[in-house]
Amino acid sequence: EKGGYDHFMLKEIFEQPQTIFDSLRGRLDAKNGTLTIGGIREHAEMLSKAKRIIIVACGTSWHAGLVAEYMIEELCRIPVEVEYASEFRYRNPVVGPGDVIIAVSQSGETADTLVAIESAKEKGAIILGVCNVVGSSIARLSDAGAYTHAGPEIGVASTKAFTAQLAVLCLIGLKVAIVKGSITKQRFQHLLDELDNIPEKVATVLKLNGRIKEIAAKYKDARDFLYLGRGYNFPVALEGALKLKEISYIHAEGYPAAEMKHGPIALVDENLPVVFVATHDSYYEKVVSNIQEIRARKGKVIAVITEGDQVIPGMADDIIEVPEADELVAPMLSVIPMQLLAYHIGVLKGFDVDKPRNLAKSVTVE
Ligand code: F6R
Repeated sequence: EKGGYDHFMLKEIFEQPQTIFDSLRGRLDAKNGTLTIGGIREHAEMLSKAKRIIIVACGTSWHAGLVAEYMIEELCRIPVEVEYASEFRYRNPVVGPGDVIIAVSQSGETADTLVAIESAKEKGAIILGVCNVVGSSIARLSDAGAYTHAGPEIGVASTKAFTAQLAVLCLIGLKVAIVKGSITKQRFQHLLDELDNIPEKVATVLKLNGRIKEIAAKYKDARDFLYLGRGYNFPVALEGALKLKEISYIHAEGYPAAEMKHGPIALVDENLPVVFVATHDSYYEKVVSNIQEIRARKGKVIAVITEGDQVIPGMADDIIEVPEADELVAPMLSVIPMQLLAYHIGVLKGFDVDKPRNLAKSVTVE
């Protein structure tokens, strides 16, 4: 049932070209320049007029929500807030008619997320669900939504559900943007093409598995890790740190790369591996400066970069090259090395990566 893989986690990481494809299939038609999302068809107009959008989720799904915040604000020019479901629900949030809540949940059963949307719905907000499990509680409570089609996720650490969430949230952002008229036809078509190419590019990234295993062996005994990124890659840094904590029990922190100098840089010495998510995007030059700041303090730099980058390889201890992609869709590529690095470190340390200690697949207690 693990399809020849040693663990479900590895199998699910390798399924991503297919699961992203499945999440786009029947919705994205890049050739004809169209996008259909059955579940939100009747709500696209309302969404395009939303005063604001609030995304509620937990854990990895919350990280997908952070990427969606950047996507939706850029594409739709609608203010987006991303909330931890557990914080949102307990503070009597200001929410009501005219607000749209997007609940992001793989299992569709996370108690905090479920209760958060229950109370928001009572106050008159419209609820959209982005869930992986068909007929789950969150999916049923939602007014509308779109499923991710990642298939059953067995590994406790979420991998393929995350990239499927990014794909579907991007589709939703694009749909609202085109209905609203907030992006040009050219940008819309370009992003459809970029999305269409993602499954193949993910397959290319997966070929780096052997290389990433070598990097894992080199750093597996580190006590702490820092993960840094900016813009669309900031949530990828958070997700990289979360994966490492869960699977290898190594303390890791994700940070926006520029925030580092406001505190965490004090941690940097020759024993600290720093993973940079530094693909070619509008933040690139700034991230290069941040890499120099780490180098100057003798931190070890592991950089995820875009193929053909001429600058960072000369500055980093280890590089992982991923294909070029528009920054909006790049997290679906840059997160793959994060998943593989955590996986290999966990395996090398002898841990049960499919069932990390103290964790459950879906958290149905508040
Ligand atoms: C991390 C992980 C958790 C879940 C979180 C939300 O690898 O799996 O952080 O993402 O518990 O779960 P769902 O998406 O089912 O609501």
